[in-house]
Amino acid sequence: MPMPTQMLVQDTMEEPASKVMKKVDISDVDMEKGSIIIEGKTKIVYELPKAPGKCLVLSKDSITAYNGVMKNTLEGKSSISTKTTCATFSILENAGIKTSLIQKVDDKSFLAHRCGMIPIEWVTRRVATGSFLRRNEGVKEGYRFNPPKLEIFYKDDAKDDPQWSREMLEESKLKCGNLVITADEIDKMEKMTVAIFEILERCWQTKNVSLIDMKIEFGVCSDTNEIILADVIDNDSWRIWQNGDKRLMMDKQVYRNLRGTEITDVEMQNLKQNFTWVADTCHQMAEEFRNSLEISKGQVVVLMGSASDKSHCEKIRNTCDKLAVKCILRVTSAHKGTEETLKILSKLEGESLHIPTVIIAVAGRSNGLGPVMAGNSCLPVINCPPVSAQWATSDIWSSLRLPSGLGCATIIDPEMAAQAAAQILAQHDVVVWSKLRVQLFSNWLKLKKADMEMRREMQQE
Ligand SMILES: Nc1ncnc2c1ncn2[C@@H]1O[C@H](COP(=O)(O)OP(=O)(O)OP(=O)(O)O)[C@@H](O)[C@H]1O
Ligand SMILES: [Mg+2]
Repeated sequence: MPMPTQMLVQDTMEEPASKVMKKVDISDVDMEKGSIIIEGKTKIVYELPKAPGKCLVLSKDSITAYNGVMKNTLEGKSSISTKTTCATFSILENAGIKTSLIQKVDDKSFLAHRCGMIPIEWVTRRVATGSFLRRNEGVKEGYRFNPPKLEIFYKDDAKDDPQWSREMLEESKLKCGNLVITADEIDKMEKMTVAIFEILERCWQTKNVSLIDMKIEFGVCSDTNEIILADVIDNDSWRIWQNGDKRLMMDKQVYRNLRGTEITDVEMQNLKQNFTWVADTCHQMAEEFRNSLEISKGQVVVLMGSASDKSHCEKIRNTCDKLAVKCILRVTSAHKGTEETLKILSKLEGESLHIPTVIIAVAGRSNGLGPVMAGNSCLPVINCPPVSAQWATSDIWSSLRLPSGLGCATIIDPEMAAQAAAQILAQHDVVVWSKLRVQLFSNWLKLKKADMEMRREMQQE
């Protein structure tokens, strides 16, 4: 009997993970291995009797394809895979996506939240290739999906993981952990899948590698009953092409392409080299991501006309903080200290050669500050005037009515001004972009939760 879903609704739609990956001291976790929860082709998942709700995911040195039709031992693959998954999951955690990863334990294993796995492979595609072409006659290889194309495959080895429609998934009312998968959970997984793809796609792009497609799995966390990204994302999970060139593929497809041939040692070595490069690059991307949370590439410089505007400016800074953007506060008045204001501007212009910069001008009454900045530099300027109750309309007009040739924007709400600045910086900053991308998902999730709550109230009336 499926569980009544209304009872579980609240627990399943949680906010995304916090800013920095939670640190669990694994010396506090008793890692004594219990029985095997499940063993698959590439991993063994162990129960940890002294750490309920957690499990150990141990990788194997095996590489398989076509549902086990191809199977080889690739010495070192377990540590390569573990390194890749820990890196990709840590990027996503730091972006704000909840994953099953708690912490890497050793070369071959990581501590994870134990999940009731949802037996679906969520495939996202940016570029048409592989099985998609066989299933969609007439579509040429290289067709670009905007937004990324989502496909669902039901995990059933005996039937070769058949493709399912969304409707089939909805109607099957799968029970995973303590949760029945309904349309709401499917919506959430769809949204999360695309967000995850787009974040990793941007990360790879910083290395001039195209993420072509990707397969992921979700699980119901046994502790919280919420849906989180689970299983792994390693080099078996995607297609990645250096330079967007299929001939420079770095993923497991190289192995699949050897089907039906006698695989030589040289080919296995080549494969290992590719997998190692991917693991190392993912590790580097994860380090860069983490570092960028502490010291962002770009900056928002808030110039306030008077120190009395500080509390308004702090709101800008708080939002910048949440979006991993460095925010500097300065006091300067274009009316009363013009020379000083222009000196600050020259310094920012000089710095912007290396530090992408957005200026936010906070000036009450008559806003000369923002327009002077905009009229004397190429930096983006956003006016964020603190409006007085009595003179609100006039105050705002002083930011809006500009001399010709000036392009500064005006955003009244300080949080939104920070958001707009972050969106400008995000064009060249994968970390800020990822934070914004997860924020989009969170906004959607909040509405979804509110609607679910409303439906529940209506049912109870
Ligand atoms: N955190 C977790 N909690 C519980 N089970 C998990 C967790 N992470 C992964 N698993 C499950 O571990 C199993 C073993 O993984 P493995 O990838 O080796 O299986 P597989 O042989 O590839 O088969 P499959 O086609 O199911 O992936 C999978 O069924 C996976 O869903
Ligand atoms: Mg698997």
